[in-house]
Amino acid sequence: MTTRDKVVLAYSGGLDTSVLVRVLSNDYGYDVVACHIDVGEARDPEYIVTRAKKAGAVAVEFVPAQDEFAKDFCFPALQANALYQGVYPLSAALSRPLISRHLVAAARKHGASAVAHGSTGKGNDQVRFDLAVQGLAPDLKVVAPQREKNMTRDDAIAYAAQHDIDIPVTAKKPFSVDENIWGRSIEGGVLEDPNQEPPEDAFAWTKSWKDAPNEPRHVVVKFEKGLPVALDGRALGPAALIKAIGAIAGEHGVGRIDLMEDRMVGIKSRENYECPAAISLITAHRDLERFTTLGASQRVKQMLDQKYAELIYEGFWFSPYRDALQAFNDVHDQYTTGEVTLRMFKGSVVAVGRTSAYGLYNHALSTYGAGDAFDHRAAEGFIKLTGLQLQLHARMHSTPAGPGAK
Ligand code: ARG
Repeated sequence: MTTRDKVVLAYSGGLDTSVLVRVLSNDYGYDVVACHIDVGEARDPEYIVTRAKKAGAVAVEFVPAQDEFAKDFCFPALQANALYQGVYPLSAALSRPLISRHLVAAARKHGASAVAHGSTGKGNDQVRFDLAVQGLAPDLKVVAPQREKNMTRDDAIAYAAQHDIDIPVTAKKPFSVDENIWGRSIEGGVLEDPNQEPPEDAFAWTKSWKDAPNEPRHVVVKFEKGLPVALDGRALGPAALIKAIGAIAGEHGVGRIDLMEDRMVGIKSRENYECPAAISLITAHRDLERFTTLGASQRVKQMLDQKYAELIYEGFWFSPYRDALQAFNDVHDQYTTGEVTLRMFKGSVVAVGRTSAYGLYNHALSTYGAGDAFDHRAAEGFIKLTGLQLQLHARMHSTPAGPGAK
């Protein structure tokens, strides 16, 4: 008897990955270990195990990973105020390296020679999975049947029908959704028309501004060294905190995003998201940083933040590049400790107050009122020296009619 090689498949429990279990087993000749990593998709472990076994998996791993995801992935992204193209908090992108890390761990545990995922050749996720695995375990093969076989959704449905894999009702939903505690992405269907306003049924976590309460809600977020630790005075663990602020923000319609997005493979796609927790926490974190850190280092960080967002999007999580940017952020955030008051109201979230033992704001220096302690005359010398190079240039090149005159 010949033994078959093992592959660990990232298993969501949906139609596509259930079909993949069978494809990997029948067409690729692998013994399939289905691995489900729970980052907040609210799936039932028993359902996952039964379904994977029924599809033909030889073993199933169900990994609860919400806190790990929050602490090791969402919070570093928060420190970087990470928003791809200025608006998308990278919810789907952040979960891929975490999932990959668990696929690699399961591969070691089961002695597998390969890992597999259900990404197509059109998206970003394939790049993120493949690069993460390469960065962690270059010896493992990565198999992506959907990409290799150019399989469409209809192909998957046909394959399921042929092979007696039941098609869950979710397969017929009007949108393709990916969700975790950092956010929810909604694609497909009517959303593929960039000029069509998203219908209300696309959203599950956020109220429309119309249905949001008519009174604003204030929420106080407490940070220690750049990381959120409490809401309205209540200490919460990472995942619990994200979910709690997400629920409040969603109630007020905060965090809906509509982005004409540039994918890595060159496709422009219309992407919709609802990320109430991420948008609220980034608003608070960015505000507190502005209060407690040097203007000079903030200006550098703003550029690095954009690079950090891009590296998450592009799948470079497990790299010395990310480690280096993270080291900068950890030092930068060492005094980002304090509280920010957010006001949420009909789709908007705004920081309206902040306190910190390390706030660099000095009332006597900034006031225009009584008690002004700023030395106004010192500004003269500063301006004289700052302008010196302009003066030198202007004296050399100006005509009597003024600079630039012919
Ligand atoms: N465009 C987003 C991203 O690249 C969302 C991807 C969602 N993934 C999916 N398989 N539907 O991060």
